[in-house]
Amino acid sequence: MPYLHISMVLLLSLHIPAANSATTDTISSGQALSISDTLVSKNGRYALGFFKVGNNSSQNTMNWYLGIWFNSVPKFTQAWVANRDDPFKSPTSSLELKISHDGNLVVLNQPTNSVIWSTQAKMTRNNTIAMLLDSGNFILRNVSNSSHTLWQSFDYPTDTFLPEMKIGWDNITGLNRRLVSRKNSISPATGVYCEELDPSGVNQVVLAKWNSNTQYWSSGVWTGRFASQPDEARNGGNESLVANAHEKYYTYTIPNETVPLYYNLDVSGQIKVFAWPEGSQDWILAYSQPRAQCDVYAVCGPFTICNDDVLPYCTCTKGFSVRSPEDWELDDRTGGCMRNTPLDCITKGSSTRSTDKFLSLPCVSLAQNVRRIEDARSIGVCAQVCQDNCSCTAYSFSNNGTCSTWHGELLNIRQIQCSSAANSNGGTLYIRLAAKDIQGSEKNKRVFIIAIATSTSVTALGLFAFAMLIMICRNKRKSSGHISNTAQDCNGIIAFRYNDLKLGTKIFSEKLGEGGFGSVFKGFLNNSTAIAVKELRHHAHQGEKQFRAEVSSIGLIQHINLVKLIGFCCEGARRLLVYEYMPNGSLAKHLFQSQATVLKWSTRYQIALGVARGLAYLHEKCRDCIIHCDIKPENILLSDSYVPKIADFGMAKFLGRDFSRVITSMRGTIGYLAPEWISGVAITPKVDVYAYGMVLLEIVSGKRNSRVSCSCGSNHDVYYPVHVAREIIGGDVRSLLDSRLCGEMNLKEAEIACKVACWCIQDDEFDRPTMGEVVQILEGLLEVNIPPMPRLLQTIAGSSNYSTCC
Ligand SMILES: *[C@@H]1O[C@H](CO)[C@@H](O)[C@H](O)[C@H]1NC(C)=O
Ligand SMILES: *[C@@H]1O[C@H](CO)[C@@H](O)[C@H](O)[C@H]1NC(C)=O
Ligand SMILES: *[C@@H]1O[C@H](CO)[C@@H](O)[C@H](O)[C@H]1NC(C)=O
Ligand SMILES: *[C@@H]1O[C@H](CO)[C@@H](O)[C@H](O)[C@H]1NC(C)=O
Ligand SMILES: *[C@@H]1O[C@H](CO)[C@@H](O)[C@H](O)[C@H]1NC(C)=O
Ligand SMILES: *[C@@H]1O[C@H](CO)[C@@H](O)[C@H](O)[C@H]1NC(C)=O
Ligand SMILES: *[C@@H]1O[C@H](CO)[C@@H](O)[C@H](O)[C@H]1NC(C)=O
Ligand SMILES: *[C@@H]1O[C@H](CO)[C@@H](O)[C@H](O)[C@H]1NC(C)=O
Ligand SMILES: *[C@@H]1O[C@H](CO)[C@@H](O)[C@H](O)[C@H]1NC(C)=O
Ligand SMILES: *[C@@H]1O[C@H](CO)[C@@H](O)[C@H](O)[C@H]1NC(C)=O
Repeated sequence: MPYLHISMVLLLSLHIPAANSATTDTISSGQALSISDTLVSKNGRYALGFFKVGNNSSQNTMNWYLGIWFNSVPKFTQAWVANRDDPFKSPTSSLELKISHDGNLVVLNQPTNSVIWSTQAKMTRNNTIAMLLDSGNFILRNVSNSSHTLWQSFDYPTDTFLPEMKIGWDNITGLNRRLVSRKNSISPATGVYCEELDPSGVNQVVLAKWNSNTQYWSSGVWTGRFASQPDEARNGGNESLVANAHEKYYTYTIPNETVPLYYNLDVSGQIKVFAWPEGSQDWILAYSQPRAQCDVYAVCGPFTICNDDVLPYCTCTKGFSVRSPEDWELDDRTGGCMRNTPLDCITKGSSTRSTDKFLSLPCVSLAQNVRRIEDARSIGVCAQVCQDNCSCTAYSFSNNGTCSTWHGELLNIRQIQCSSAANSNGGTLYIRLAAKDIQGSEKNKRVFIIAIATSTSVTALGLFAFAMLIMICRNKRKSSGHISNTAQDCNGIIAFRYNDLKLGTKIFSEKLGEGGFGSVFKGFLNNSTAIAVKELRHHAHQGEKQFRAEVSSIGLIQHINLVKLIGFCCEGARRLLVYEYMPNGSLAKHLFQSQATVLKWSTRYQIALGVARGLAYLHEKCRDCIIHCDIKPENILLSDSYVPKIADFGMAKFLGRDFSRVITSMRGTIGYLAPEWISGVAITPKVDVYAYGMVLLEIVSGKRNSRVSCSCGSNHDVYYPVHVAREIIGGDVRSLLDSRLCGEMNLKEAEIACKVACWCIQDDEFDRPTMGEVVQILEGLLEVNIPPMPRLLQTIAGSSNYSTCC
């Protein structure tokens, strides 16, 4: 696992309750496990039994499985499934697991006593017993010889790799054990990705598209450890690759007292390792590989664009629609997209007639399976070559004058930053579409604009316009403007009526963004002041009185670097918050989106300082210390003069118990999570300091930490924060900066920023500065030393053998 950084998880320990004395871990001959019974391993970690998957609309569509799950965590999580591709259909709930006359374990469908599943082990005598071991291995063994195992579940892994399991082959039994991802987020059936030992014989673990030769990730060669693996992981991970005359496998062990670990090959084709620290409410992602989702081969299927920086990461290219919306919903996007309109292209003899057109997709990394057209020396000729061949679906013409064409389905198109398009294998792709789809998209846009323009005019026709009109008129009678306030709480926080917000946001039509807590829409107050309205998604635990109390306490918190809360709405189950509107959007937009204007160095430094001041205020100056818990560029908004303002503070007050669940389940935030989140110790303001350090690095580099890598003399990627830590020694901060700055910066400030960032992301929270200290350092009032290397980060990153920054 390839560097499962158990070091992090080792810090923790968990008291596992002893198995209930009423439960058992064995089935002997003559006993049967019915549909409602479970076996529980002696240590209480795993349970085995029948479970069902499906929907309630019809009992006949209910699928039953025999499987093993984690017994010590409250969330049902499958660790093994016996019959992933052959679910039992049993509306009458009459399944039974027992040892048959021949000694094998079988599942019987009771009324008919028919065998619907069997271990099918070869044996001469029937004196066997089945047992769920502490490791989660379900074995069938000889009663009179406990070391004689006839069958074991570890020989037939599904998508979960438990400690002590083996991935690899055994030449005596002929087994080749590998993980295969599940079909989708509901069905455990065989999916499309697998993790296995490299079939070519190289001593490494690879991820590949199942049943094809397409490997998209490898661990690096095993030489006592995996090539790219850091020393730290080796000590903690305790993994091994064993090769001898009759078997070759990869395995790992963890100490008994470690918290539950869940190593899973996800539907998305990524290895994900989760931990469940004590007191946690969900699995917490500790590690994933490959790090970028879009590195997974064909994860979005044909005719899609994959983008690591947005969610959902898969979108159809224009002119295409999702092929199977049901699968798409369930996280299986490998079916990709299909054309809205068939192409119009006919070849007769040597001449081709086609009305198809090409749509440009700028800033993409180009698909594989390219065909070079040597004699097309201009983009026009290149386009014509593609147009004249009915199987040609796209072309591209590179800066160096090379024409490339693609035929058939387009896979693995990936959105990248324009600035890097030139030097990587990126560029502009021209994709073939039916003429109607190209014109169609333009015409639709125009229609949409007209509709909005006319619907606000009095002469508008049509149902929508009519309805709007009635609503506007009705409301005019009540008030004169867009949104009127009905009450003024103390603290100057306004209580809005839901209908007024609905109208002021044009029925929530202009979405500004979407976060873990809810969606944000743009609207206007009656004096035409722009506002941002956040509709809270998780509010199940909060009554109106408490909500109002929290609103007024949050309303008290005002600072130039915090987004101002203007008002709220609380009607029935609806909870909305109204904030001042930030015309320049989020810092994320300015740093990561290719079309955004590049922020100057001085602006960046002021943003870094402003955010630090805002956080210092939250941590130290407010009456109750507020920990933000979700600092990331998306939550830093910019005013019209680029003053940074922190959004979403105080969410814990509104969401109560739901808050940590939202935080930990939010994807993309993971790169900003301090180690304490995973180790389960109490959370302090230092988690914000950690996240701030990560954001500061992104402000400096202009790229997501997770996306930036470099090959610094070695042939594998180095996680950017680790790279920064190293360069600070060399004193060459210049190489760390966003290339779009073109060298225009203040070297001293850049050095300070990098050092502060490196201090902020230290493993031990006590090594990190407070936000107040960060402000003083950035203001030049405090000196800062050269920071040590954040070791944990280095471990996760899988970098090589540097040990300190200095
Ligand atoms: C639920 O059952 C209905 C009716 O059998 C079926 O059409 C639908 O696909 C099922 N949904 C899921 C998610 O399995
Ligand atoms: C299915 O029905 C059970 C009990 O009838 C209920 O607890 C469960 O929430 C239902 N599941 C769905 C997805 O509706
Ligand atoms: C084992 O096999 C023998 C002979 O085939 C049979 O008589 C006996 O009942 C079997 N025992 C069990 C427990 O099924
Ligand atoms: C179990 O072991 C005994 C003694 O080693 C042997 O005689 C018997 O055949 C074995 N049973 C099976 C099912 O292999
Ligand atoms: C028990 O089983 C093991 C493994 O199959 C075998 O090596 C050993 O000889 C058996 N012991 C006896 C007493 O049959
Ligand atoms: C790793 O495993 C070996 C044997 O499998 C054991 O001797 C060693 O103590 C283990 N190390 C750790 C850190 O668990
Ligand atoms: C074991 O089997 C694998 C794959 O089937 C093969 O590549 C390898 O050479 C075999 N090893 C031995 C020692 O026979
Ligand atoms: C874990 O505990 C089992 C018994 O409960 C023991 O046999 C085993 O050696 C222990 N493993 C480690 C790594 O401590
Ligand atoms: C179209 O391109 C394909 C792939 O290069 C080629 O096999 C085919 O012959 C071409 N068809 C025509 C009509 O040129
Ligand atoms: C031109 O650029 C493409 C990628 O953009 C590259 O694959 C190709 O080798 C280059 N050709 C020459 C002649 O440099």
